[in-house]
Amino acid sequence: MPHDFPPGSVWLVGAGPGDPDLLTRKAERLLADADMVFYDALVGPAILALVPRGTELVAVGKRSGRHSKDQGSINDLLAAAALGGKRVVRLKGGDPSIFGRSTEEIAHLTTRGIAVQICPGVTTASAAAASAGASLTLRGLARKLTFVTAHARAGEALDLDWVALATADATLAIYMGRAAAAEIACQLIAAGRAPDTPVMVAVNVSLPAERIVRGRLSALAFLVETISDSDPSLLLIGEAIAPVERGRVAVPARTVCEGGN
Ligand SMILES: C[S@@+](CC[C@H](N)C(=O)[O-])C[C@H]1O[C@@H](n2cnc3c(N)ncnc32)[C@H](O)[C@@H]1O
Repeated sequence: MPHDFPPGSVWLVGAGPGDPDLLTRKAERLLADADMVFYDALVGPAILALVPRGTELVAVGKRSGRHSKDQGSINDLLAAAALGGKRVVRLKGGDPSIFGRSTEEIAHLTTRGIAVQICPGVTTASAAAASAGASLTLRGLARKLTFVTAHARAGEALDLDWVALATADATLAIYMGRAAAAEIACQLIAAGRAPDTPVMVAVNVSLPAERIVRGRLSALAFLVETISDSDPSLLLIGEAIAPVERGRVAVPARTVCEGGN
């Protein structure tokens, strides 16, 4: 019996961006020891295939516009499983501490006396940079790395500090940003970020259908045009992610800042 995973306890486990080779050894061990695994929609089949037969697998996936379970129901399911004496893994895409609503789950479980621990995972921004052969920071030019969610409540505008985000020496890793790409580009440029700042749209990172699209901030809206809603994508913005051989970059010429932006 693993000493760190007694019956009635919960591990929040990072599954990484999709490639099972990016799972940590600890995550793999916890999956092998669990009685029940509650997993998100972005945790793909290759990772789930590592879960031994006989372990109960429960999909609690939440994707934009297609919520299969609300957060309250997920909290209740986790608590019920742990209080029933199960060893529970809550498997989340990427790193559980980045836009994973982990705090809500931890609070719900700990107030019921349930022990919770976290196993970190490779976040999508790190994996996207690795796939593109880029660094997220660049000495002298990109001293800051900012993780941003561009997910807004239905019908609400993005409420972000554009001036702070437009700082020239920062790399922005924007999660859930595809739908708002045009607004992001216009707001950043209006707040002072250079229109020719390098951008990268990383789709299905680390999965067989991975696609990396590069361009400039002023053309971001066009770069995401062919990306489907169902394909997870991440926006990276900043000097650090420019291709090392800059002379070979094909930069889209069109720009898309209308309406006074
Ligand atoms: C709820 S957030 C979770 C982020 C996750 N905790 C992490 O550390 O990567 C989901 C968003 O992460 C990004 N994402 C997750 N997996 C991805 C992948 N394989 N490729 C591209 N983007 C991904 C997308 O922006 C997606 O909408």
